[in-house]
Amino acid sequence: MYSNKLYTPLRYPGGKARFAPLIAEVITTNNLAGGHYLEPFAGGAGVALSLLIDSIVEHIHINDADSAIAGFWRAATRQTAELVQMVATEPITMDAWHHWRGVMLGQQAGTELERGFATLFMNRTNRSGILKGGVIGGKAQSGSYKIDARFMRDELCSRLERIGLHADGIHVYEEDAHELLRRCHQFLPSKSLIYLDPPYYVKGAGLYRNYYKHDDHLEIAKLLGSARFKRPWIVSYDNAEEIREMYAYATPYAYGLHYTAQRRYTGSEVMFFSSRLQAPLDAMAKIAA
Ligand SMILES: C[S@@+](CC[C@H](N)C(=O)[O-])C[C@H]1O[C@@H](n2cnc3c(N)ncnc32)[C@H](O)[C@@H]1O
Repeated sequence: MYSNKLYTPLRYPGGKARFAPLIAEVITTNNLAGGHYLEPFAGGAGVALSLLIDSIVEHIHINDADSAIAGFWRAATRQTAELVQMVATEPITMDAWHHWRGVMLGQQAGTELERGFATLFMNRTNRSGILKGGVIGGKAQSGSYKIDARFMRDELCSRLERIGLHADGIHVYEEDAHELLRRCHQFLPSKSLIYLDPPYYVKGAGLYRNYYKHDDHLEIAKLLGSARFKRPWIVSYDNAEEIREMYAYATPYAYGLHYTAQRRYTGSEVMFFSSRLQAPLDAMAKIAA
């Protein structure tokens, strides 16, 4: 049964965990329950974790080209107990922030476990979870929120422990999404769904460490639309005209969204469904603002 609990330890600008009920409905409506699920741009992987933990799918494949993000997921799934121990005990101070920042950027040596922790540390102590952003409260820690405002140790430990319990059902990749999609038929059974949440077309450049350009977006759209691509997929985007043109072959569903990254604004987003899928129109109507 699907629950609406937040399972990911990562805060993510534009995180899509709230789409989990919709994606779960697409999966059941299209007889894909119990199959596999791939997120080529996983980030916080909120949807993937919900689908796995709530037993909608049997196996999730999560990929992110950002080595810090992929490294976090490797540590979370392979060294869960050690990571939990660090989350429970490591100091959350400005000195620690400088240290873990150096580890995340590769300026200071760190084991795979330490690099994974460094990503979580920066994600939970920086504004809006932006890895290359500034620390909550500012370097002088003079703001009303301090560095540890979002580092809820107990909650993070339980989220990590829950991930550890399901680690056998999680496969982590650190590849370019396009490359992974080109070979995904090799590891995805036909009973699979792919959900793509690429960096935003317009706003993506400032948010993530891997900048995505017009042609990168176009290459993905072409691959998904080609006759040789045989797995069903859903893609979500900011509602830009260029994106609507690239996906002109698919049916768009536009909806409004309140979104917080640095500051609050109301944006407009769009979702496209592959022709292999029956789209759940009732559920879409619920997210339409
Ligand atoms: C919009 S975010 C995904 C957010 C995610 N859906 C969530 O709910 O947390 C896009 C992600 O794509 C990653 N990314 C950027 N370029 C990529 C590429 N070429 N291949 C794979 N991942 C990439 C970024 O590092 C970022 O984590």
